[in-house]
Amino acid sequence: MSVKKVVLAYSGGLDTSVIVKWLQDKYGCEVITYTADLGQNEELEPIKEKALKVGATKAYVEDIREEFLEDYVMKAFKFGALYEGKYPLATALGRPLITKKMIEIAKKEGADAIAHGSTGKGNDQVRFDVSAVALKPDIKVIAPVREWELKSRDEEIEYAKKYDIPIPVTKEKPYSIDRNIWGLSVEAGPLEDTYFEPPEDIYSMTTDPTKAPNEPEYVEIEFKQGIPVALNGQRMGLVELVDKANELAGKHGIGRVDIVENRLVGIKSREIYEAPAAYMLLEAKRSLDELVLDREALHLKDQLALKYAELVYYGYWFCDLREALDAFADKLNEKATGVVRLKLYKGKATVVARKSPYALYSKELATYDPEDKFVHKYGEAFCYIWGLPLKVSAQVKNKK
Ligand code: ARG
Repeated sequence: MSVKKVVLAYSGGLDTSVIVKWLQDKYGCEVITYTADLGQNEELEPIKEKALKVGATKAYVEDIREEFLEDYVMKAFKFGALYEGKYPLATALGRPLITKKMIEIAKKEGADAIAHGSTGKGNDQVRFDVSAVALKPDIKVIAPVREWELKSRDEEIEYAKKYDIPIPVTKEKPYSIDRNIWGLSVEAGPLEDTYFEPPEDIYSMTTDPTKAPNEPEYVEIEFKQGIPVALNGQRMGLVELVDKANELAGKHGIGRVDIVENRLVGIKSREIYEAPAAYMLLEAKRSLDELVLDREALHLKDQLALKYAELVYYGYWFCDLREALDAFADKLNEKATGVVRLKLYKGKATVVARKSPYALYSKELATYDPEDKFVHKYGEAFCYIWGLPLKVSAQVKNKK
């Protein structure tokens, strides 16, 4: 298939810079780059200049942090979704949004393909490829790293020199890193040894918990229908709130995870995650759910949260099931309004207090004090009926 115009997800790094040239070389096509600010802490203007310098005919750059938090992160947040119980999905949630933006540009610019810099054994390729065809079934997706002949970084550098592509001067970390406002993912390099302890310099959003402040710090988070709306009584937008939460929780060393996880392509992979705001806010939200959801709703939500995390991880963002689950979560979050107080101390965010106008907790029913309103004598009948199936089953077994 011939390709005339391609929209490339461009980070400004060596890989995607080499890809600009490689695409032109291989397909003789025009390359338009797209760079999103998802809160990775990088300046966009120099990236735009670099894209044009290495041969892009047009370079789009865009701050999409707000849309990312509101329409992607918060949906998973309403479930408390964590892949394999640990990963708050920062990278996984970003990919479908980046793809959506690229497809919009492809439509506007009349491009027939999009391209990305992911490898053939990772999850990110799946998220790009699958989201792209979900949004535009006739789009071609090119992942040069899956097919090119450049076997090592040295070969890439050779290629870059040949085409006058700037080579990063600072010594790069030996890891593959992806960062956005919701968290940081690190893999590969020395981490491939599962018995290798990550060195302190692998972390960039959190203080070493052993060196975190010796005094605990309290924080109050206010939620409205499942969404955090204020920090320590101060109302603010999501971008500011998550930035502040990252800073605060990061200072206390909260949000580090070291996991061997199941990738979609069937292999296990060692990953380090850092997500101070995510972990702190998830912890707080969890305790609010405990307060306002009835038992069955809470239990079902927990089960479906696993499914939700899988869908996000697997690249199935743009599917009907995800939308149906969102409707479920929206309903349950109608009462997730209230305030949670946490104590931050040396790597842990511990909930110490919570309140909500929708709390199902009733002191009169829970108390063992004289104002107890619970009718104790009904307990006997309840136990009789609840235990009846077990009793009958035992009677039958004994007869045999
Ligand atoms: N394992 C994580 C995921 O699949 C993180 C991927 C990180 N990507 C990267 N380029 N380092 O979502």
